[in-house]
Amino acid sequence: MRADVQDAVNRVDQQRLWRRLTEMAGIGAIPGGGVNRAAFSKEDIAARKLLVSWARARNFTVAVDAIGNLFIRRAGTDPRAAPVMTGSHMDSQPRGGRFDGIYGVLAGLEAIEAIEQAGVKTRRPLELVAWSNEEGGRFAPCTMGSAVYTGARRLTEFLEVTDNDGVALEDALARTLAALPAAEQRALKAPAAAYIEAHIEQGPLLEREGRTIGVVTGIQGLRWFNVEIFGETAHAGTTPLAARKDALREAIAAIGALHELTRDASDTLRFTIGRVLVTPNSPNSVPSHVMFSVDVRHPVAATIARLGEAIEPAVRKAVTHCSVKVTPTLRDDPCAFDPAVVDCVERAAQSLKLAHRRMPSGASHDAMYLARVCPTGMIFVPCERGISHNEAENARPGDLAAGARVLTAALLELAGQNRDS
Ligand code: GLV
Ligand code: MN
Ligand code: MN
Repeated sequence: MRADVQDAVNRVDQQRLWRRLTEMAGIGAIPGGGVNRAAFSKEDIAARKLLVSWARARNFTVAVDAIGNLFIRRAGTDPRAAPVMTGSHMDSQPRGGRFDGIYGVLAGLEAIEAIEQAGVKTRRPLELVAWSNEEGGRFAPCTMGSAVYTGARRLTEFLEVTDNDGVALEDALARTLAALPAAEQRALKAPAAAYIEAHIEQGPLLEREGRTIGVVTGIQGLRWFNVEIFGETAHAGTTPLAARKDALREAIAAIGALHELTRDASDTLRFTIGRVLVTPNSPNSVPSHVMFSVDVRHPVAATIARLGEAIEPAVRKAVTHCSVKVTPTLRDDPCAFDPAVVDCVERAAQSLKLAHRRMPSGASHDAMYLARVCPTGMIFVPCERGISHNEAENARPGDLAAGARVLTAALLELAGQNRDS
């Protein structure tokens, strides 16, 4: 490894990274050691302000785009060159952990600060990005910020999406943007030279195999739907069962049919119903309306395409007394990362003598959308027992710092040190 790269890598500060993770975990802290930092909430705003304060302390510039994606830039020596980007997200699941997303943001900041402290000049700017609403736990679907940034979806498609309390995304986003008035305005779809995202694995493989770094090769495909069942409310004590249009009973039949449809002896397929909203949600009224979410994932393009087509017919067949509406909300085909970026991450892990392996990602990430517009890759680090989307999510400070070191070396290779430009 070149001496200046090694110098930057050596300046990755495990304590500083851990301290910042701990401080961020205090914003939206919930019992059990977890975090609830919903997109565009006051906790999200507080996390953004804290990140910006760390960036400004290093004189990095701060910009924000129309969907609230936050960009922190360290200038390069070529003012015309597109940036090499890194980052992840700061929002969390309602009962999320302390590392999902925020680790990639703070590892990116750590890498860029280490490069700054080592005084290594890069030809391309380095840009840290915190993508808005990656989780989709408050405003569905997920990965909204990167989808809009890369032009895969339009912001206007999402403005009227509401949370469980009826708050529109448009209003929550406006409050978030107003809270960071000093940030520059940044255009959507600005060119990027490359993107690397660091993340906890969210699965058990690295820990089980005693490896520190996952060199991520791609992400499995997924489909999201909102299924609505329309029945009729009635008195629970008086209405004969045969005369009811019970939306919940029909929803249960539909959910059973979907579980049958998604049975997979190889245990490759993933199927989840994570949200159910019942109206009027009263113990002594027959439910008139049920909305449930469907999340189905598979790494093989043909299989996820077939499953995506099969969801609505399976629901319609199972529901006999109510009407049905099935709305697709997200459609992501499996993605393969750029071989040159995958190789670059692998080389960095090798030269730092870290035990590593190539692996696909089961979870979705903003990298999936970035992969459509620029060479992209990801770095995984182990998390305890693979647990994620859970308050108990945990990771070791040494592994987190190792991931930031790999990121530092990979960013420097992709951004071109001044010497070779
Ligand atoms: C992201 O958290 C996902 O749903 O995979
Ligand atoms: Mn994440
Ligand atoms: Mn997540």
